[in-house]
Amino acid sequence: MPDGPVRLLGIDDLPACQRLAEDRDWGREDHKWRFLFSVGDVYGIDGPDGELAGTVISTPYGKDVAAISMVLVARRYERRGLGARLMRHAMDNTRTASLCLTATEYGRPLYERLGFRPVGLCTAYAGVATGPRRRGASVPARANDMPAIQKLDTEVFGADRAQVIRGLPSFCESLHVVRDGPDITGFGGTWQNEDWTMVGPVISQNTETALTLITDLLPPNNQTRLDIDNRHPELIALAEKRGLRPAFTTTVMEYGAPINGDPTRLYTPIAQALG
Ligand SMILES: CC(C)(COP(=O)(O)OP(=O)(O)OC[C@H]1O[C@@H](n2cnc3c(N)ncnc32)[C@H](O)[C@@H]1OP(=O)(O)O)[C@@H](O)C(=O)NCCC(=O)NCCS
Repeated sequence: MPDGPVRLLGIDDLPACQRLAEDRDWGREDHKWRFLFSVGDVYGIDGPDGELAGTVISTPYGKDVAAISMVLVARRYERRGLGARLMRHAMDNTRTASLCLTATEYGRPLYERLGFRPVGLCTAYAGVATGPRRRGASVPARANDMPAIQKLDTEVFGADRAQVIRGLPSFCESLHVVRDGPDITGFGGTWQNEDWTMVGPVISQNTETALTLITDLLPPNNQTRLDIDNRHPELIALAEKRGLRPAFTTTVMEYGAPINGDPTRLYTPIAQALG
């Protein structure tokens, strides 16, 4: 049983993180891990066999909120309290008023025991999208759209995610905005997760704009996934109409002070790991 300290991992530990993820039938997700390493604190615990026994990532957004992700424990060490120990370490070392995460069915009981409360459900719709492309009302974001993107994101998410938002142009394969004069009414992106095109974030002032962004961003012929907050039946209807099907549902959870955001305008997260 691993009994060493929880330590802060560096990018050199990425291959070990990926071996651990594969042990839990998660993909290697190289692009995602690298982005998470660049914006968050990755913690891990070593097993006696020299392999990582578990990980957790805390990505703090200023003093308000941190997103917890990649809670993984190697199968050979599960159900011995390691998941709880890693979570407590991340919680003790994150100095934000609130924490948020997206829980799988395996993680939810653990998080509930630690005091997290469910605040929403998110269903992953996956498949190869069919049907017409582009409404054309959105355009690729330019460098001078970034302040407007960050302002809208902060208002809707409820914390200043400056570091993550600054990274979006390189993390995302495409990043679009819908312009309204000098302002924007929404932004949306796609990024590549192994063979999958992930559609997210989609954050906008209204559902019409969100639907426009998604229609413009859905790639033809590619395996695509959209993690849709269940508060948005119009998006679910669009995903179904375009041939995507529900794959799994996760629970959005919070801890600490209620997060002062507006989930009605958060249509899909950047990634479940980041909110
Ligand atoms: C979710 C996950 C991280 C939990 O890790 P873990 O180390 O098994 O977690 P813990 O041991 O702290 O708790 C798990 C269970 O073991 C129980 N447990 C803890 N110590 C125990 C012990 N010494 N003896 C027996 N049971 C014990 C806990 O009470 C808990 O039970 P419950 O879930 O029925 O309430 C792990 O299952 C995992 O990596 N799953 C795949 C990836 C995943 O889904 N991660 C969550 C992403 S949101």
